[in-house]
Amino acid sequence: DGVRLLSFDELDSTNEEARRRVLEEGEHGPLWIVAGRQSRGRGRLGREWLSVPGNLHASLILSDGVAPERAPQLGFVAGVAIVEALRALCPGETGFALKWPNDILLDRAKLGGVLLEGLALSAGDERQPASGVVVVGIGVNCSAAPEGLAYPAAALTTLGARAPSAQTLFRTLSDRFCEALKLWAAGSGFAEIRRRWLEAAAGLGETVHVLLAQGEEIEGRFETIDASGRLVIAVGAARRAIDAGDVALAHR
Ligand code: BTN
Repeated sequence: DGVRLLSFDELDSTNEEARRRVLEEGEHGPLWIVAGRQSRGRGRLGREWLSVPGNLHASLILSDGVAPERAPQLGFVAGVAIVEALRALCPGETGFALKWPNDILLDRAKLGGVLLEGLALSAGDERQPASGVVVVGIGVNCSAAPEGLAYPAAALTTLGARAPSAQTLFRTLSDRFCEALKLWAAGSGFAEIRRRWLEAAAGLGETVHVLLAQGEEIEGRFETIDASGRLVIAVGAARRAIDAGDVALAHR
């Protein structure tokens, strides 16, 4: 499919390696950077991403045709590609789902996540980065979930013999990602991605608890995601569209 691939045994972070290549070498992508282990993985909202060797750590550098206002939609493109790859590799397994904005779930526990980083507008950086570069970082717990996390976590190995390895998952996932990107870039754009994302969404119609990135906490009924990918929840008679935050689903 014409996308280059660089593979490493270990990196600090595949997103960081992508960032270095964009800023220092003018890399424009499309390029996948994959590592067998990471010593300083990053998660959303400045958090750290712990991982175990044998998990999937991959970042895709993209620059073609990504307008800054559409860049956040790539998290949903990635989510759709990941959940479709997992469902294709584990037929009959119904526990895979997506949680807004960028989590991958297995039986309601966190199996993986997506971290988007834009490099176009790195204020304070006097070097001239390539314009409009987005790094889509994907982490999936294939071999094991790290211990001591503050939330329920899952790994593919709990599925037993049919659990795909990180390598197998990457091959299917990168194909699906290319297909989903084409779909996204084509006429239907985000509408079809959004439809597929909602089809795999966990917690639709349920009461969810949202911790906003600014610190406010709200509870409401998860209605949908809007045409820009914001979380729409009903709080009493009012509706709120949320840009950034964390969603907690009710335990079942
Ligand atoms: C999250 O759920 O907070 C997002 C986690 C993203 C982790 C992946 S692992 C590969 C890539 N490199 C990183 O440092 N982070 C992402």
